Amino acid sequence: TGAFVIAVDGPAASGKGTIATRLGEAYGLPVLDTGLLYRAVGVLAKRAGEDLDDETACAAAAVTLTADQLGDPALRTREAGELASRVAVHPRVRDALLDFQRTFAGQEAGAILDGRDIGTVIWPQAPAKLYVTATPEVRAERRWKQLQGQGEAVTYEDILADIRRRDARDGGRGAAPMRPAEDAVLLDTSEMTIEQAADAARRIVEAAR
Ligand code: C5P
Repeated sequence: TGAFVIAVDGPAASGKGTIATRLGEAYGLPVLDTGLLYRAVGVLAKRAGEDLDDETACAAAAVTLTADQLGDPALRTREAGELASRVAVHPRVRDALLDFQRTFAGQEAGAILDGRDIGTVIWPQAPAKLYVTATPEVRAERRWKQLQGQGEAVTYEDILADIRRRDARDGGRGAAPMRPAEDAVLLDTSEMTIEQAADAARRIVEAAR
């Protein structure tokens, strides 16, 4: 537990993924995007024809998940984000994904994990915790551009509605709700470029080292 772990939490499209990647490059640490785990479970359960409100069925999909399934481009779609937040409300799905995340965080070299509950549940002993935010409008704009780049035909309004619904579901659930850890440093990237946000994150981590 002495390894250097950086927890990067925050809502969808806040910039946490980019920040985690940049920190990984800066410190030479492996990075895990934990949202991919929930996306993969959602997609697996959907493909199997399961009811996403069925906790037992979703947990069964979660225990079959393996690391090699995380590279699937289908996990990056708008639909997968929605499926992910639906399966993520189930405590047994979250439990099934715990070991994988904790094993990753416990690597001797240290690690960076980005998600919603890294600083609160997965690795509360992390020496450096960031909670990355931005206004819903800024996040919707970023996600909209990203999805357009991937060829998804969606409107900005649809994405803003997605983001608001996902924030409400992720923050309102009983199991590991999205929220900053008490000792997390808040980083609002609304007015920042990627470079500025990455620099600010680096300074926060330096102060924690
Ligand atoms: O970060 P990303 O948008 O890929 O996450 C997709 C969904 O997975 C989130 O909206 C959330 O419901 C869930 N999630 C979670 N805990 C994490 C990471 C993601 O509940 N650590």
